[in-house]
Amino acid sequence: MSGFVVEPWRLRWETIDVDQLHRTESAFALANGHLGMRGSLDEGEPVGLPGTYLNGFYEEHSLPYAEAGYGYPEAGQTVVNVTDGKIMRLLVEDEPLDMRYGKAHTHHRTLDFRTGVLTRETEWESPTGRRVLVKTRRLVSFTQRAVAAIRYEVTPLEDTTQLVVQSDLLANEPIVSESRDPRVALALKSPLAGEFHWSEGYRAVLVHRTKESGLRMAAAMDHEIDANDGLRTEISCEDDLARLTIAADIAAGETLSVTKYLAYGWSAQRSAPALRAQAEAALAGARQTGWEGLLAEQEAFLDDFWEAADVEIDGDPALQQALRLALFHIAQAGARGESRAIPGKGLTGPGYDGHAFWDTETFVLPVLTYTMPDAARDALRWRHSTLEAARDRAEVLGKSGAAFPWRSINGAECSAYWPAGTAAFHVSADIADATARYLAATGDEDFDREYATELLVETARLWASLGHHDPHDGFRIDGVTGPDEYTAVVDNNVYTNLMAQKNLREALAACERNPGVAEALGVTDAEKSVWADAAERMHVPYDELLGVHPQAEAFTQHEEWDFENTPEDGYPLLLNYPYFELYRKQVVKQADLVLALHLRGDAFTPEEKARDFAYYEARTVRDSSLSAGTQAVMAAECGHLDLAYDYLAEAALTDLDDLHGNVKNGLHMASLAGAWQAVVAGLGGMRDHGGELTFAPRLPRGLSRVSFRMSFRGTRLRVEVTHDNATYHLVSGDPITTTHHGEPVEIGPSPVTLGIPPAPDNPTPQQPHGREPRRGARRAGESS
Ligand code: BGC
Repeated sequence: MSGFVVEPWRLRWETIDVDQLHRTESAFALANGHLGMRGSLDEGEPVGLPGTYLNGFYEEHSLPYAEAGYGYPEAGQTVVNVTDGKIMRLLVEDEPLDMRYGKAHTHHRTLDFRTGVLTRETEWESPTGRRVLVKTRRLVSFTQRAVAAIRYEVTPLEDTTQLVVQSDLLANEPIVSESRDPRVALALKSPLAGEFHWSEGYRAVLVHRTKESGLRMAAAMDHEIDANDGLRTEISCEDDLARLTIAADIAAGETLSVTKYLAYGWSAQRSAPALRAQAEAALAGARQTGWEGLLAEQEAFLDDFWEAADVEIDGDPALQQALRLALFHIAQAGARGESRAIPGKGLTGPGYDGHAFWDTETFVLPVLTYTMPDAARDALRWRHSTLEAARDRAEVLGKSGAAFPWRSINGAECSAYWPAGTAAFHVSADIADATARYLAATGDEDFDREYATELLVETARLWASLGHHDPHDGFRIDGVTGPDEYTAVVDNNVYTNLMAQKNLREALAACERNPGVAEALGVTDAEKSVWADAAERMHVPYDELLGVHPQAEAFTQHEEWDFENTPEDGYPLLLNYPYFELYRKQVVKQADLVLALHLRGDAFTPEEKARDFAYYEARTVRDSSLSAGTQAVMAAECGHLDLAYDYLAEAALTDLDDLHGNVKNGLHMASLAGAWQAVVAGLGGMRDHGGELTFAPRLPRGLSRVSFRMSFRGTRLRVEVTHDNATYHLVSGDPITTTHHGEPVEIGPSPVTLGIPPAPDNPTPQQPHGREPRRGARRAGESS
C-alpha cells in the first residue's frame, strides 16, 4: 500500500502516481513551525492539493447553526493557502514539462531527515522526444524562519536546447475546498486581496490582506542564475502573480541552474511597506548566507536535533523509517513556531481548518519537552498569549479562571459543536499538565514566573468553579466531555477529574514557588484551601461489581455496542451511526480511561491498570488516530508487549499507509507523536509522575534492540534496550538520577547496564470484533 521505499534516514517515492500526489505532498511537506509548504511538484501541476501556510494566518467566517444557542461561538477561522513561491515552470523548446505527458525515464522524490532537504530528480522526454534532466532541491529553513530556498537545475541530455524557466509567486491559487459549509468555501475562494506588488531585476514582492480577518502578508523572491552566455530574463508582476522568466540556449550536458530564495512575513498590525521591508530583509539575509550556507545551517540544526532525539529500531526497517519521519515532522511542526500554536496537522495541510487542539499539549508537547524543550516552551507561550480570550470564554460560560478553546487558531473558540467542543473542558487541564511537565523537565524558572504560574492558577480556578462538593462523593465535576468523543456530557469523567486534580495541585505548588506572582494574580489563602480541598476530595468513580473504573459515572451500566454485527465499512462509527446511539452505549472512540492510566498512572495500582486496560481494550474502536500510541503505552505496562508493538506500528504508519483515508489533508501530528510515546513511554516505560523521570523498559519478541534519546534538565541521555538488559548512556551534561524498574540508577560518564525483570503475566486482552491493531501492509525492506 505504502509506495514509499524503506530506508532508515530518507523517505523516497520512485514513481509518478498522479492519483497519489495528495498523499506524497503531505509526507513530503517541509515546514519549520512558522512557514510550511506541501511537497507538490515544482511545476505546480499536476497537483493533489496545493498548500503554503504561515502559522497563525487565517481567514474568518461566520459559523453555521441550524438553531442558535447561548454562548455559541460566532466566528470560525480557517487556515489560508498563502502566496505560493514554490512554482518553477519549465518549457523545453516550446513544450511544458508536465508529468502527465511525455515520458519520465526516471523520477524520484526524496526527503532526507538529516539534511532537511526535499530532492526531486526527473529524466523527462518531451512528447516530441527532447530529453532533459531536472534536479531540484527545496528547503524551508530551520535557522532563518521566514526563508525557503530552491535550487532548480536543468540539463539537456542530447542537443542544445532552448529552456525557459518561469519562477512564480502566485496568490489565490485555485483550490477545491472540501468544506461542506458553503460559507467556509466562499471565505477560502480568493481569500487574499492584493495591496502592493513590485518587481525589479530578479526580485519581486507581493503584499496581500485577508478580507475578513484583516491579516496582512508579504511574500518575496530573489534569484541567482548560473548559465552560459545568451541568457535573457524578464520580470513582471501584477496583484496575484509575480514572474521571473529565464530563457537560455543550453548545450547538451551543460546545466542551467537557478537558485530561488523566498521570504515570508505576516502581521495583524504592520503596514504593507513594513511587511515588504520585513520580507526583503529576510531575503537579504538568505542571500548573504547563500544556498550552500543554508544547506549547512539546516544540516547542523538537524545534527543537533538527532543527537537529542533519535530513535533506533533493530528488526523492523519500515518502523525505523516511520519513527524518524515522525520525529522529523514533529520537529518541523514545532521548531520555529515561536509563540504560535502547533496545529493538529502541523503546517502540512489544511485539515481541521488549521486548528490546534489538545493534541498539542497531550501528545506533541511531551515529545518536544524531551527533545526540543525550547519549542515546547514557545508553544505554551502561545497558550499564555491567548489567556485573555480564555478568561472571556470562562466568563461567558459563567465560570472563573480560563476556559481554553477546544479548537482555534487565534485563541477564540471555533467549535460549533458544543458537546464535543466547549464541554471538553479537559483541554485546560491538558495545558496545565504540559506546563508542569515542561517545568519539571527543564527547571525553567523564568518561564515559571512569567507564564507557567499564571497558566496553572487560571486553569485551577476553572476547575474550582466547574465542580462542586457533594457530601457523599466529594468533589464532583458534572456535565463535561472527556477525550472519548463517543461519550459526551457526562458526570465525573475519570480522566478529566484526575487531570483536574493534578492541575489544582500544580497550581498550589506554583503559588508556593512564586508567592509574589500568586499575590499579583490575587490568589488568597482561602482560594488555595478551596483548591486543596477539591483536589483532596476529587471524586473518582469505581465499579465495585466489575472491579474496573467506569470511564465516567454509569458508563459500565450502559448497553454494550453490538460489535459482531457492525460491518467493517461501518467505521468510523461517527459517519455511520447517530451520535444519539454512540453516546448511550459502551463504545469508545479513543483512549480515555486508558489515557488516564498513562498520564495519571500514579493514581492506580498495577492490578487496577491491568483490569481497566483489558476492559477498555474490548470496547475501543480507534476511530481517532489519538489512540494507538496510548494503547501501546499501557499494553506495554500491563505486559502485553507484542500488542504494544502492533499499536506502535499502527501509530507510526498511520500516515504513511493512510490508515484513516485523509492524509491528503495533512499529517496527524498527535499520531506521529503517539508513535514516539509508544517507543519511549511504551517500550521504554518512561514516566514522569511528579516531575521524576523513571524507566521500565521491555521489548516485544519482534524487535531485537531499541535505543532512544531524550533530554532532562539539560542532560542528554540515551537508553538502549535489548531483551536481556538496558544500558543507560550519558550523551552530554551532568549526571542524573533515575530508576530502572524501580531500582535507583545514576547515569554518569560510564554507561550502566541493568537486567530486565520478567513482564507481568496478565491474560491477553481482546479488541472489538474486527478492530485489532492494523499493522500496515509494509513489512521489513518492502518497497511495494
Ligand atoms: C479526536 C480529538 C482530536 C481531534 C483533532 C478528533 O477526531 O477525537 O480527540 O483532538 O480529532 O485531532
